Amino acid sequence: MTKEEIIKILASDEPDFLEEVYARAYQVKLKYVGKKVYFRGIIEFSNICRKDCLYCGIRRSNKNLSRFSMPKEEIVETALIAYKAGYGSVLLQSGERADGEFIDFIEDVLKSIKRLTSKELGITLSLGEQSPETYKRWFQAGAHRYLLRIETSNKALYQHIHPDGHDYDIRLNCLKFLKDIGYQVGTGVMIGLPGQTLEDLAEDIFFFQREDIDMIGMGPYIVHKDTPLIDKYKIDSERNFSLGLKMIASVRLQLKDVNIAATTALQALDRTGREKGLKAGANIIMPNITPSEYRDKYQLYEGKPCIKEDALACDDCLKNRLLSVGEEIGYKRWGDSPHFFKRWKFAKR
Ligand code: 5AD
Ligand code: FES
Repeated sequence: MTKEEIIKILASDEPDFLEEVYARAYQVKLKYVGKKVYFRGIIEFSNICRKDCLYCGIRRSNKNLSRFSMPKEEIVETALIAYKAGYGSVLLQSGERADGEFIDFIEDVLKSIKRLTSKELGITLSLGEQSPETYKRWFQAGAHRYLLRIETSNKALYQHIHPDGHDYDIRLNCLKFLKDIGYQVGTGVMIGLPGQTLEDLAEDIFFFQREDIDMIGMGPYIVHKDTPLIDKYKIDSERNFSLGLKMIASVRLQLKDVNIAATTALQALDRTGREKGLKAGANIIMPNITPSEYRDKYQLYEGKPCIKEDALACDDCLKNRLLSVGEEIGYKRWGDSPHFFKRWKFAKR
């Protein structure tokens, strides 16, 4: 699609036109990545963060929050619960740290999970910006996918929402390191950020394409009351939600063979948001399996669903919901992005 064609989708509020777009995106999904929905159990194991992103509830300067780090045994135990439930992979996410103790800790956790699951459980990391050496160590210890959202590909907007020592080019380099090391690489953006235009969002899609990204995770921006962005801007949640679906469909139509997540932020704004995401072209769901005692301390945004539930409490509910809307679940499979294999084959030649 041209930029104008993408903007036409993003700007539309014509139900008939949008239904047709979602149906087309769904067909493209069936053709390029298949019908199955893959689960990644997400373990949010620590809210300690060295960064201070203006939009994020666990930013360093938020003092209305007690900080936690799950012990290694508990992280591994939670991963094993997911494994036994037939999830093909888990996602380890936390605030950003890059000290030696943390790097060793993650390496240790990765090796234990791999050992205890006969290397069967796939592990994705979402631990922010790190050195190439660290990325390499974690890859060798068993992680095979990495998520690092660019948040917005508009450099000026990026700097505006990350005034604290973040640098757009460093983040971009991280994505390149990750790809070179051999990770399947995911990125994504927040949708409906203050000051973000439809043109920016269309450019985000071209960014994913240019950077040859394997996996996309995007969600509506949602305010958090303990962040600096709350006071300055009025956010239209309904608009952001529907933009979220339109972005999923546009990315599916444009990139075709990538994995796309129906993210929790969609569910935060609409009870059946994730199911709607799947119908608009997404093929990945990330059920939260963090033990319940930690969940309320990991609120990146407000209204995060299911914060009182425990590890697999959401599992049955989710399965029933998916089956009821005619989706199929891919158990015990990593559900890798087909795009990765094409990219890798090509790169190796
Ligand atoms: N609204 C929506 N998404 C958010 N994230 C962080 N804060 C918010 C917010 N207020 C997203 C960022 C980050 C991911 C882990 O969570 O995109 O990369
Ligand atoms: Fe922790 Fe942005 S606030 S990485």
